[in-house]
Amino acid sequence: MNALELLLNRRSASRLTTPAPEGNELEYILAAGMRAPDHGALRPWHFVVMQGEGIDKFSKLLEKSAIENALGQEVEEKARNAPYRAPMIITVIAKVVENTKIPAWEQVVAAGCAVHAMQMAAVAQGFGGIWRSGSWTEDPVVKAGLGCGENDKIVGFLYLGTPELRAPAKVTLPDLTNFVSYF
Ligand SMILES: Cc1cc2nc3c(=O)[nH]c(=O)nc-3n(C[C@H](O)[C@H](O)[C@H](O)COP(=O)(O)O)c2cc1C
Repeated sequence: MNALELLLNRRSASRLTTPAPEGNELEYILAAGMRAPDHGALRPWHFVVMQGEGIDKFSKLLEKSAIENALGQEVEEKARNAPYRAPMIITVIAKVVENTKIPAWEQVVAAGCAVHAMQMAAVAQGFGGIWRSGSWTEDPVVKAGLGCGENDKIVGFLYLGTPELRAPAKVTLPDLTNFVSYF
């Protein structure tokens, strides 16, 4: 797949099944994340790969968060089920480095670029994915369970697998004139 075709036609896939990337496929995805643009070469990120028992553990963690936040049974069930929407999830944590001239926002953006790079590396290899977030990214129970430090920020949960729908809706590009000006 040519790079321009990938960037112009990529779609997120919310319905994902097995197989998930493995072996070299997963290595390439993680390597693409590591190659995200990064001011100061801080590599201010950490990737937590979950599959199999890892997904079960994540499900229990989200459920625990719903229980501790007294969100009610409906939310608890939603939390329990959410991780099973894909056979693999990569949580991307921005590990913001303090006392450097690189502002925190640049480091968080760099971690976000890593999410997108990993998603594109998955698509380029015939897999699909979707970048998800939600209130869990800010939740102290979830953050502690995933080993986040005080300054860390979860920038996303990248759900990966094989798209269930082989022919996703065609991409229509919005009118550029509303988004672009020439100075
Ligand atoms: C930071 C960030 C967080 C997102 N969180 C969610 C989410 O929690 N749930 C969701 O359905 N889509 C979320 N999205 C949007 C999807 O990843 C996706 O871009 C969107 O469904 C549009 O589909 P497309 O990528 O095919 O254009 C998020 C995107 C970003 C950049």
